[in-house]
Amino acid sequence: MRVFLIGFMGCGKSTLGKKLAKKLNLNFIDMDHAIEEQEGMTINEIFSSKGENNFRKIENEYLASFETENVVVGTGGGAPCYYNNIDLINELGCSVYIKLPPKVLKDRLKGETNKRPLVQNMSDEELLSFIEVKLNEREVYYNNAHVIFDGLKFDIPELVLEIQSQIFNR
Ligand code: S3P
Repeated sequence: MRVFLIGFMGCGKSTLGKKLAKKLNLNFIDMDHAIEEQEGMTINEIFSSKGENNFRKIENEYLASFETENVVVGTGGGAPCYYNNIDLINELGCSVYIKLPPKVLKDRLKGETNKRPLVQNMSDEELLSFIEVKLNEREVYYNNAHVIFDGLKFDIPELVLEIQSQIFNR
């Protein structure tokens, strides 16, 4: 069993992922951390030394060679939106899009922009319009998830039931 959490930066993939993994008795993998370990560099360092295109290649290779079983994976916010990654994710396991409105994402990301190369040094206003534009582009991919989870309701018991029925009906 594998569950992939997808969604914009700041939507709570790690927070939800850890809780969900506990409930389903699975391990949790943060894809960004796994890539940082593999490359021996932080995400910021990968972006500045190799560039975003190479980071996207690394993400694709990571997913294309993914073999671990019994995990909940918190993917990077852009991961489902490049190459055929959303199809890879949907073949590997049950995907869950954690959906939140741009304003909420902005408030969550405000204090954390320095860890994320795409939003570094943005003002509040810049951040909100960046999120609005990018989320609009990315939802085309995110909406292919097996389950769409309302990040405002954050109803984990209901999500567990939905994931179980998705997996049962495969
Ligand atoms: C990115 C999201 C980040 C990380 C990288 C690029 C994106 O992951 O992969 O900074 O393109 O949205 P989180 O969603 O875990 O912040």
